[in-house]
Formats: sequence, C-alpha cells, structure tokens
Amino acid sequence: MGSPVVLGIESSCDETGAGLVRDGRLLGQALASSMAEHTRFGGVVPEIAARAHVHALNPVVRGALDEAGLRAADIGAVAVTCGPGLSGALQVGLAGAKSLAYALGVPLYGVHHLAGHVAADTLAHGPLPDPCVVLIVSGGHTSLLLVRDLARDRIVHLGDTLDDAAGECFDKVARVFGLPYPGGPAIDRTARAGDPCAVPFPRPLTTGPPAMRFAFSFSGLKTAAARWAERHRAAGRPLPVADGAAALQEAVADVLTRKAVAACTEHGVRTLVVVGGVAANSRVRALAQQRCAAAGLTLRVPPPRLCTDNGAMIAAVGDLLVRSGAAPAPLDVSVDPSAPL
Ligand code: KG4
Ligand code: ZN
Repeated sequence: MGSPVVLGIESSCDETGAGLVRDGRLLGQALASSMAEHTRFGGVVPEIAARAHVHALNPVVRGALDEAGLRAADIGAVAVTCGPGLSGALQVGLAGAKSLAYALGVPLYGVHHLAGHVAADTLAHGPLPDPCVVLIVSGGHTSLLLVRDLARDRIVHLGDTLDDAAGECFDKVARVFGLPYPGGPAIDRTARAGDPCAVPFPRPLTTGPPAMRFAFSFSGLKTAAARWAERHRAAGRPLPVADGAAALQEAVADVLTRKAVAACTEHGVRTLVVVGGVAANSRVRALAQQRCAAAGLTLRVPPPRLCTDNGAMIAAVGDLLVRSGAAPAPLDVSVDPSAPL
C-alpha cells in the first residue's frame, strides 16, 4: 500500500488554505483570503480573520478535493497549522481539522507554520538536500536555518531578526508611503518604476561583531524610510514613492541575500533555499539568483503561489511526518500562537 493522501489546512493569519499531497506530490489546492476585509484597517484584524476562516474552511477543502479529482473518503491523514499565528484564526483551522480527522477516522498531525514554508519548496523541487541553508522571510519571521532533516526537527538556527521581520518592514513602510495593504506586493510593483540607488538606505548588521553576522534587524531601516518620507513632506515636496520603494527593496534584498550566501559559504553548504512571503519579491529572487550563481551555489525558491501562506505547504509537512513514521497528535492538541521552531 502506498502513502496516504494528506490534507493540509492553514489558517494562521488571513489566508484559509487547503492542499492535498501524497508522496511529495501536490494533488490539488485551494485558497481563500480575507485580505480585502483588512485593507481599510491597514493590517490584519484578528477577529475579522477568524470569522473569515469559519466561512472559508469547508469551501477550500472542497476546492482542493475538486482540483485533485478526489473525494473526502480518499483523505488518509489531516495536517493542520498549530502555530505560530493569530490565536483565534488558528483555533478555527484546528477545530475544522480535528472534526474532519475524527469523522473520517484518520490521524491528525500538528504542523509548525514555518516548517510548512520550508516544505513548500519540496513540492516544487523535490526532497531537500541534507544539509541546506534555508532563509525564511515572511511577515512575522526572518530566520537563517541550517536544515538537515525537517521531519525529525534536525534544524540549527544560525540567526534571526532582532526586531521586525522583513515583510513587516515592507508592510509598515508601505503604509508610511501611502501604499495599500499588504505592503510587500505594493512595494514590489511600485519599485519597478523607481531607482534603487536614489536613496542610500542603511544595510543593518552587515558590519559589526561576528556574532551578529547571521542576525537581522529591520526596524532601523523602517525608521530611515519613515524619516526620508517626513523630510519630503516637511519641505512640501512630493514624495518620490517609486524611488523610495526601489531603494528600500534593494536594501532588504541586499541584506537578506548577502547573509544567506555567507551562511552557505561558512558552513560549506551547496544549496540555498529561500521561502516565505517575501521570497515572492522579484528583487529578492533576482539578487539571490545572481549571488548564488557567483558563489557556485544552487538556489531553490518556490513559485510565488507557494511562497505566501497556503494549505499545500502544511500538507507537505504532514506527508513528510507520515512517511517518517512520526506519532500523530492527540485529538485534544491545542494551538500554540508563539510556537518556536
Ligand atoms: O509567509 P506569508 O504569506 O505570511 C506570514 O507567514 O507572515 O508572508 C506575508 C508577508 C507580508 O509581509 C507581505 O507583505 C510579504 O510577505 N510579501 C511580499 C511580497 N509578497 C508578499 N513582500 C515583498 N514582495 C512581495 N512580492
Ligand atoms: Zn507564513
């Protein structure tokens, strides 16, 4: 008998995702987003996100099954994000996953959201090489990891952000620049018409003590961008938003890729994997490609649809857990909104 079809459910923030994976292969996925409902508040409102998951959960599971040409009875295991994320939002996905696992009589697996981001790449490019360096860049996290075996938690943290995440920096600066939420994609689009050298924004923690060589800091960059915008407004000059967006994006991409390549070189690792919402950024992708080629490294970045939150990545971890013989979660498992990786 082959491996079971694993249903993955993601609901940690404003995306409700379902995906179906078997033996490392993506069979179908569906996604619903409450993003539009948060736009006028300039950021995700937890209560609105949780309520939206209640509406979207069953339709996205149905959508993933339809895309795969499968029925609910074909599901052999259910994997669900238990954290980190918004507590109420996570509760909705977990309650739905427990009900499905119980009703279908199949095992339930609790998944760490960041492990999901890493596993997303396996759906595009196959099993991860052991070892590889993984750069996770999302709205809530920026981390450099040395990964040996994701399913068995053989992961070493090389560095994390000391303050804001890279995506958070994009989102907050976009707001100051008057761009819509979510800020990352808006900065990416706006930057196309700008000059990345127009503003000499800082490259935080690229010089300094060796202990900080794989750490990140984006709050100073955020403040520098806000001050730049204030100076224009105070002088009554129109804000050259495209130049600001291009220069900010260049600074973020420069810091991320420089440190990620240095981590590979220092640890003698041949493959860099870049995942998470910010891995969808066009400049991060291009600069990572350029610097990996120059350093003789293989770069793996999932297609943009698998970079941002989705259910397929959670199914991918569930599939790895099932195949590695991991123990399922009890049906009274709880969410862990600040789960460490
Ligand atoms: O991984 P993700 O979907 O959710 C979290 O786990 O946080 O990442 C969302 C983050 C947001 O900060 C969003 O602005 C950013 O990813 N993002 C981007 C792009 N697409 C999404 N940032 C820059 N350029 C993009 N194209
Ligand atoms: Zn995420």
